[in-house]
Amino acid sequence: MDTKARIIPIANALKPVTPLDDAPAPQGGSLADRRGRRVRDLRISVTDRCNFRCVYCMPKAVFDHDYAFLPRTDLLSFEEIVRVARIFVDQGVEKIRITGGEPLLRKHIENLIEQLAKLPVELTLTTNGSLLVKKARALKDAGLHRVTVSLDGLDDAVFKRMNDVDYPVSDVLDGIEAAAAAGLAPIKVNCVVKRGSNDDQILPMARHFRHSGHILRFIEFMDVGSSNGWRMDEVLPSAEVVARIGAEFPLQAIDANYPGEVAGRWRYADGGGEIGVISSVTQAFCASCTRIRLSTEGQLYTCLFAQGGHDLRSLLRQGTTDQALESLIARVWRGRDDRYSEIRSAATELPTGAAKIEMSYIGG
Ligand code: GTP
Ligand code: 5AD
Ligand code: SF4
Ligand code: SF4
Repeated sequence: MDTKARIIPIANALKPVTPLDDAPAPQGGSLADRRGRRVRDLRISVTDRCNFRCVYCMPKAVFDHDYAFLPRTDLLSFEEIVRVARIFVDQGVEKIRITGGEPLLRKHIENLIEQLAKLPVELTLTTNGSLLVKKARALKDAGLHRVTVSLDGLDDAVFKRMNDVDYPVSDVLDGIEAAAAAGLAPIKVNCVVKRGSNDDQILPMARHFRHSGHILRFIEFMDVGSSNGWRMDEVLPSAEVVARIGAEFPLQAIDANYPGEVAGRWRYADGGGEIGVISSVTQAFCASCTRIRLSTEGQLYTCLFAQGGHDLRSLLRQGTTDQALESLIARVWRGRDDRYSEIRSAATELPTGAAKIEMSYIGG
C-alpha cells in the first residue's frame, strides 16, 4: 500500500438488517442496536488536520507534507453538521463531542458551537490545547459546556517526543488554565500511555493534577488506524497505572457517573480529587458502547474500528428529506453489531483485514 495516500473509508452500501434472535430488548427507548445498546453520544469530527504529530495518532512518517488531507469542498458544512446533529438528538442522543484532528483548527468553529448549543444536549470538545488561550472565552460564550485536553507528559523532552512537533508542556498547561478561567469545567486531561515512551510521566502527572479540580485520565495505547505501529508490549495496562499511583497516593474505586462511561473512576483517599483510566485494550467496554461517529466528510461510523462508513454527505447534498435521513440513521443503528475491542481482547493476535480508519479522520 502507498503509505502516503489517505486511507479512504470503504464505501459501504447499507446492509439489510436482520435482527439477531437473541438481541436483548432495548432499555427504555426506541432506537437500540442488535445488542440492545442505545444511541446516546454523537462524536463529530470537524477536521482531519492537526498541528501535532502524536506518535500514536498521526505519525510523521505517514502524515507528512505529501499526505492528502481532505479538500475543503469535501468537508461537511456547519449547516449540514447541525442538520444531522438535530436528527440524532431526536433519536435519543444526549451528548455531542466535537473532535478531529484538532477541532480548533476549523475556521469559525465557535459558529458551529453556537448552533449546536441550541440543542438539548451536553456539548463538549476534545482538543490538544494549543489554541485554548486564544479561543476558550469565545467557545464558552458560544455555549460550549466543557473541554477535554490531551497531554501526554509533564517533562518537555518526553512530551515533545510524543507530539513530535517540539510543542512545549507549558503552552498546554496555559491552555488548560484559560479553559478553567472561562468556565469550561470540569476539565478532563487525557494522557495516552505508551510503555517505554511516557510511562515515567504517570506519577509526575498525578502529582501535578491532584487538588487541581481537573480530572486526569490515562488511556491505554490502542490499535486504532493502520499507521501507528501498535504493539501489545507497548500497552501499559490500566491496572498498572492504578497500582503505581496507588502506591504513592492511596486510591478508592468509585462508581461511574453514567451507564457506559468509558473511564473507570478512582478517587484519592485523602480528598485530592479523582483520576480515570480508559482500558479499551485490557478491559473492553463494547457491551455498553452508545457512541456513533460522524466523520469530517460526512461518513457515519458505528465503531471506532469500523472498516467502512455510511455516506450521509451525498444524501444531504441530494436534497434528501429529514424523514428519509432519520429512517436511514435508524436503520444503520438498528443494524449495528460492532464490538471490535471485545473481539480483539478475546483473540490471541490482532484481527487482520482491510486498513482501519485513522482516528484523526474518524474523530477521537
Ligand atoms: P466524557 O465522559 O464525556 O468526559 O468523555 P469520554 O469518557 O467519552 O471520553 P473521551 O471522549 O475523552 O474519550 C477518551 C478516549 O477514550 C478517547 O480519546 C479514546 O482513546 C477512548 N475512547 C472513547 N470512545 C471510545 C470508543 O468508543 N471505543 C474505544 N475503543 N475507545 C474509545
Ligand atoms: N490510542 C489511544 N488513544 C488515542 N487517541 C488518538 N490515538 C490514540 C491511540 N492510538 C486519543 C487520545 C487523544 C485523543 C485526541 O485521541 O485520547 O487524547
Ligand atoms: Fe492531533 Fe490529537 Fe492526534 Fe495528537 S492525538 S495528532 S493532538 S488529533
Ligand atoms: Fe464501541 Fe467499537 Fe469502541 Fe467497542 S471498539 S467500544 S463497539 S467504538
